[in-house]
Amino acid sequence: MRLGDDSSLITTYRASLRTHFSTWSRRTMSYTTKILPVDGSSITFKGDELEISDPVTKKNLETAAKVLTTTHDVIGFPTETVYGLGGSALSDESVKSIYKAKNRPADNPLIVHVSSISQLKRKILPPNYQIPKVYESLIHKFWPGPLTILLPVHESSPISKFVTAGQSTFAVRIPQHPVARALIALSDTPLAAPSANASTRPSPTIASHVYNDLQGRIPYILDGGSCDFGVESTVVDGLVDPPMLLRPGGVSLEEIKSVGGEPWKDVVVAKKTAGKTEAVRTPGMKYRHYSPTARVVLFVNCGDGKEAIDNYISSHNLQDCKIALLKSRHFVGISSTSANKESIDRELGTDGHTISHNLFRYLREVDETGVDMIFVEGIEETNEGLAVMNRLSKAALEVVDGQ
Ligand code: TXA
Ligand code: MG
Repeated sequence: MRLGDDSSLITTYRASLRTHFSTWSRRTMSYTTKILPVDGSSITFKGDELEISDPVTKKNLETAAKVLTTTHDVIGFPTETVYGLGGSALSDESVKSIYKAKNRPADNPLIVHVSSISQLKRKILPPNYQIPKVYESLIHKFWPGPLTILLPVHESSPISKFVTAGQSTFAVRIPQHPVARALIALSDTPLAAPSANASTRPSPTIASHVYNDLQGRIPYILDGGSCDFGVESTVVDGLVDPPMLLRPGGVSLEEIKSVGGEPWKDVVVAKKTAGKTEAVRTPGMKYRHYSPTARVVLFVNCGDGKEAIDNYISSHNLQDCKIALLKSRHFVGISSTSANKESIDRELGTDGHTISHNLFRYLREVDETGVDMIFVEGIEETNEGLAVMNRLSKAALEVVDGQ
């Protein structure tokens, strides 16, 4: 029997997740997490020179930088993509604190964040090392910004082995968000920073998401408002031939191809776990990622969605379940004839930037209302759509393909 065949199983599934999270939280609670406000507009970089005009922002950034340089604790902070959970990339103990706070599997490597190319050279790269030419135009155009590149780990590399999870390469980017860059510059420490959610949960795009997931597990969260992109950085590997796009994100595949130059014209996109060629799939719990507590069902190629949703509700006996629908370009809503009185409709937006900006936030918001299921309208996998659909197909326990 599939999970979706009996709505009573959904309740069991939600309860087992809650037990998992609360047991895990009780085991390692030890901080009173404080949220420190910061104003990104008071921060300016002249070249690599940092200026902070707002005294509260300056004080709070200095507090966070001190924690990073004098302890092994980790800090939640805003980037232009999603909130990150940062600790020194050069310290085994700090990196272990990141994995522990998130409950993240140790075989998933982390991205190193630097404030400038000069800091990358000074703190990490061997003397006289040249960043491979294949990245030149991408770096020129997209740094600082949501692009992560892979570089080889040199034999005397100062990066903690826990950052790379034993790989021969490390991932690095310069974030564009002034708060992220200022924190890294002030601490003068390259920061390993995964998204600041508890492992398996949707990535956080406002400070309260971080607080909800990691409260009691970290000392501070810098609150710099909502993240612009709303999905993580694009990860590319230019060290292989042809180059690969490992994770779609804030920089689109189209932009990589048009800006990257000759080698990137043939860039290969790494396969995601759920594809639209698989009409209906129910992958196991071990593939959970970006997931709210409610079950997510992704609808693709379903026109205005009316028929597909009606059919899904009746064939799975969901008439009494509370359902949220996140729609974007074509869906009209859940019809009242599906006898679903408690359904919630939210508009993700119609353009790619707005949809990706709202995606994780709305998944969390409708989940908090206690819905049993979240139906999401899929979009075309072009431009921002590739990253959005990558996240959705991982968040979804099932994909309904109308074609
Ligand atoms: O936008 C972002 O990238 C955010 C913010 C906080 O900067 N960070 C983020 O980190 O998304 P995380 O840990 O959630 O995702 C890191 C991704 C994973 O897909 C990981 O497998 C990949 O980068 N990665 C890291 N190092 C790698 C390596 N050496 N080789 C291949 N993939 C790597
Ligand atoms: Mg993540």
